[in-house]
Amino acid sequence: MDGPSGTGKSTVSRRLAAECAAAYLDTGAMYRALTLAVLRAGLDGESAASADVAVGAVRSVRSVTDPKAPALLLDDEDVEPEIRGPEVTRAVSAVSAFPEVREALVGRQRELIADAVAESGGIVVEGRDIGSVVVPDAPLKVYLTASDDIRAARRAAQDRKAGRAADLDRVLADVRRRDRLDSTRKISPLHAAADALVLDTDELSVDAVLKRLLELVAERGMVS
Ligand code: DC
Repeated sequence: MDGPSGTGKSTVSRRLAAECAAAYLDTGAMYRALTLAVLRAGLDGESAASADVAVGAVRSVRSVTDPKAPALLLDDEDVEPEIRGPEVTRAVSAVSAFPEVREALVGRQRELIADAVAESGGIVVEGRDIGSVVVPDAPLKVYLTASDDIRAARRAAQDRKAGRAADLDRVLADVRRRDRLDSTRKISPLHAAADALVLDTDELSVDAVLKRLLELVAERGMVS
């Protein structure tokens, strides 16, 4: 499940995984955890030293792949609220653009995916490069899109719900900035895989997207 932020990716992915008794992996949370490690080391996310710290932190990141209680641990500390905060959000695109960071994390993601498939029989993985790079032979690839304004409004509502201040203009600027950085980076830029199903969620509720995906999963015989 790929696409930019604010498309409903996380909600849909978690619910789809729960409905299919599959595991769930939020790869954005992994990039965010590495970014937190970089910021905690007193770095800004842009320097070469930031890449070294991020690569060094890959083995300290642990993803709990239960869709009913997903969690992200950094050195056994639950860092979930902190990785969603403005400091990490500001720096994460820079950290995730380092080729060595991506290489190390994609390797880790493939291990987690293989483990989850062996244990649960399947996994829903969300990110930016899952269908295009991480699992190019995935049996179902979905790319969610939505207009900038709608995505910013959803993001702001999420922030407010989580008790964070959310000025709509600032959130819109941040959404556009991150889209630009994520789509133009040299390595694994955000784009839909050629064989991905592209769904525009401007006019689709989470329930409607989920219904469509459950139909596809059933049509393809992906659940028993
Ligand atoms: O999905 P998110 O907003 O939590 O992702 C945070 C950032 O991580 C996003 O701006 C780009 C990066 N990312 C990535 O480069 N590749 C992924 N598979 C997932 C996220």
